[in-house]
Amino acid sequence: MRLYVNVDHVATVREARRTDEPDPAAAAAVAEAHGADGITIHLREDRRHIQDVDVETIAAGVRTRCNLEVAAREEMIEIACRLRPYQVTIVPERREEITTEGGLNLIQRDPYLRTALRRLDESGIHVALFIGPDLESIDAAKDLGVPAIELHTGRYAHTWDQSPAALKELCVGSDHAAGLGLAVHAGHGLTYRNVGPVAAIPEIEELNIGHSIVSRAIFDGLGPAVREMRRLIDEGRG
Ligand code: PXP
Repeated sequence: MRLYVNVDHVATVREARRTDEPDPAAAAAVAEAHGADGITIHLREDRRHIQDVDVETIAAGVRTRCNLEVAAREEMIEIACRLRPYQVTIVPERREEITTEGGLNLIQRDPYLRTALRRLDESGIHVALFIGPDLESIDAAKDLGVPAIELHTGRYAHTWDQSPAALKELCVGSDHAAGLGLAVHAGHGLTYRNVGPVAAIPEIEELNIGHSIVSRAIFDGLGPAVREMRRLIDEGRG
């Protein structure tokens, strides 16, 4: 199982002062040195954390792979096609949200989405769609012809210690998606405490984790924080 470390919140700290530290590209290098299989960054329309120059530096400088999260907007697709990260995950975005709150709505689909997917594909970029783990969304992603999906683990992250329902939904969704030939990624809200059961879902091949790792890094350092997450994923995987 691949661990992609999301370094957005390193940039959040930097942007709190609009200065030049801490540098998310330096964080990416540390994460890679301590077991990250890839680096994830989200270029938001409001540029609240990651800036265009970060995407340029990280997409070109990673030793592993860069997964760029963007909304399906012309500006973002143009940036992605120019900088050519290994992978683009298309996410929904609302300016007023604190973080990405749900998966893409593929039922009332954004008319630009197909164009975005075509342009990314023509640029040779791997594409994933960030969606809820419901079967309807998974089928809709399959219909769009994408090779991969990232399942939103937000509901699981909020309820894992109260009910097994969200984990069950992730298991069923992952099995369904893999049966359709989709590569399955997952993320959002995963922590040191709740990652194990998700890591144990055999169809999920990639996890994107950010906030919890950067939070732990404040106390333990980024290298140990990444190594501990890696250890828990491997343990959960069995
Ligand atoms: N996956 C996607 C699509 C996201 O938008 C985010 C947050 O940027 C994550 C994973 C990582 O979430 P967290 O920071 O809660 O680990």
